[in-house]
Amino acid sequence: MKPRVFVSRMIPQEGLDIVLAACDAEVNADDKHLSQAELTEKVKGKEGLLCLLTDDINDAILNASPQLRVVANVAVGYNNIDVPAATRRKIIITNTPGVLDDTTADFTWCLLLGSARRLGEAERYARAGKYTGWGIMLLCGEDVFGKTLGICGLGRIGRGVAKRASGFEMRILYTDAVRAPAEVERELGAQFVDKETLFREADFVTLHVPLLPETHHYVSVKELKLMKKTAHLINASRGPVVDETALVQALRERWIAGAGLDVYEHEPHMTAGLTALDNVTLAPHIASASVETRMKMAVMAATNLVEALQGRRPPNIVNPEVLA
Ligand code: DGY
Repeated sequence: MKPRVFVSRMIPQEGLDIVLAACDAEVNADDKHLSQAELTEKVKGKEGLLCLLTDDINDAILNASPQLRVVANVAVGYNNIDVPAATRRKIIITNTPGVLDDTTADFTWCLLLGSARRLGEAERYARAGKYTGWGIMLLCGEDVFGKTLGICGLGRIGRGVAKRASGFEMRILYTDAVRAPAEVERELGAQFVDKETLFREADFVTLHVPLLPETHHYVSVKELKLMKKTAHLINASRGPVVDETALVQALRERWIAGAGLDVYEHEPHMTAGLTALDNVTLAPHIASASVETRMKMAVMAATNLVEALQGRRPPNIVNPEVLA
């Protein structure tokens, strides 16, 4: 008998095929976000769940599904899952690290360049038919080349962002809970500094920390006030890492020049006032959204799910202690 699983949203076919071949799968083919009550109902009686970062896999849902053996998240971040609650119940949790690093690093640079050179504003201006002639002061932004890049979190994505900075001949500062090995610093030309120095000296601050209790509001009034008036803040990590109310105030009152955001504190809602600001470039959580990468993420998550259900150690287990 094939194990019964629920797939909470549509995923690229290559991933779905792996699940369908090995499992008795129910798929939310409508691809609509399910309410907590609907999701709970669907997961009941299933041994496996393949879900997205928009699904809140909390203690209550795990409690209502005693047969559940594995939850495979199609994301590298897994702050949507109560991992300690799953571990207590010996439920395996998996994620999709590695395959999205370059795509996310590329998109971080989209936001950085777009924010520096006011691309969103320029696009809106051109589309509105306001471009009636070249102007020497028209939509001037900040140069990127030769400036200082400040990377918060020099993990795989942070390193990808640093690697791309070499073409822009930038000075690279980074801060992290743990200092990177000397050869990584040398290779990237990245200098380790404390958080305060980074926020004070960087022209572009880019966030690549995971969302943990200690990184909630990692950027708030204090950090925004430390930044240069010409600096930009880029966030393609998780929304609650930034205090969005403070950011709206900082952008409105020009404590900083601009921001590029892919993620939001209360996603998909945005803090009042954010969309009215011209000096912010907004994207709907698409940093890893290339066709190739989303396919790789789906295949990876599906493989994790099937391996766990067939009694093997899934390649990307987040809570290996459940196998002990
Ligand atoms: C992740 O994987 O955590 C991203 O936010 C979505 O790709």
